[in-house]
Amino acid sequence: MTRTVYLNGEYMPEDQAKVSVFDRGFLFADGVYEVTSVLGGKLLDFDGHAVRLARSLGELGMANPITKDDLLAVHRELVRLNDIEDGLVYLQITRGAADRDFAFPAEGTPQTIVLFTQAKPGLADSPLAQTGMKVISIEDQRWARRDIKTVQLLYPSMGKMMAKAAGAHDAWMVEDGFITEGTSNNAYIVKDGKIITRNLGHEILHGITRAAVLRFAREAQMEIEERPFTLDEAKAADEAFITSASMFVMPVVEMDGDSIGTGAVGPVAKRLREIYLDESRKMAV
Ligand code: PDD
Repeated sequence: MTRTVYLNGEYMPEDQAKVSVFDRGFLFADGVYEVTSVLGGKLLDFDGHAVRLARSLGELGMANPITKDDLLAVHRELVRLNDIEDGLVYLQITRGAADRDFAFPAEGTPQTIVLFTQAKPGLADSPLAQTGMKVISIEDQRWARRDIKTVQLLYPSMGKMMAKAAGAHDAWMVEDGFITEGTSNNAYIVKDGKIITRNLGHEILHGITRAAVLRFAREAQMEIEERPFTLDEAKAADEAFITSASMFVMPVVEMDGDSIGTGAVGPVAKRLREIYLDESRKMAV
């Protein structure tokens, strides 16, 4: 089945969807994105993603070309047209096409809006959730506004390749001795029953999964500390895990070749994954 994608108001086969070589997303990474997961044909945390999209656009002085209701309708229609049971919906909005110039194009220049689906059968049943991920630590060399979800993902891609080369699944990034986050996820450790994760600021992406998981953890009376933690604390932690729209809650069992805690999936990560999947499925749209 040919995938149907959405481009600037129209649904079309993926091989017919064309974007200008002058698109600022292509030339300047002048664009923002969101990734929303689909389980059982329904969208998880759609509202959170729509709110963060509006914020990313606002921070970059970009107009929001689509209402939340229309955005939801497009997400749902793509899920339907592509018969997605489990998978992801990717959304990207750029400042549009204009003659190459560092200055932004004139107001009213049509923006580019693209959505497509990725089928991921069994997305919530990843075997990695049973064994846990291995991560390495790398220097955080990204720009200073990581709270804006821009499409400039070259350094995170390089980080993922460094992890691969080291036989690991991902990299946690370190700045001034403190962990910021994973290449495409938020990072957590557990020490003496306490969940520790970096506080929100410009240094990390404000994960939609993070917000939901922390809310569920609080409701389950778990103790949470939102503060920077060091690489040494991570190595000495009882447990570690990550969260993201595509991985939900995923345990981390190894850092730079050394086991974290027992080296097996810990009870806090296991429980949070179960709670997150149960609750999010219930609230899915
Ligand atoms: N990544 N931090 C970074 C740097 C991310 O790229 C992501 C998401 C997150 C987690 O955010 P959320 O819980 O809202 O997915 C944290 C997406 C999944 C991606 O780039 O594919």
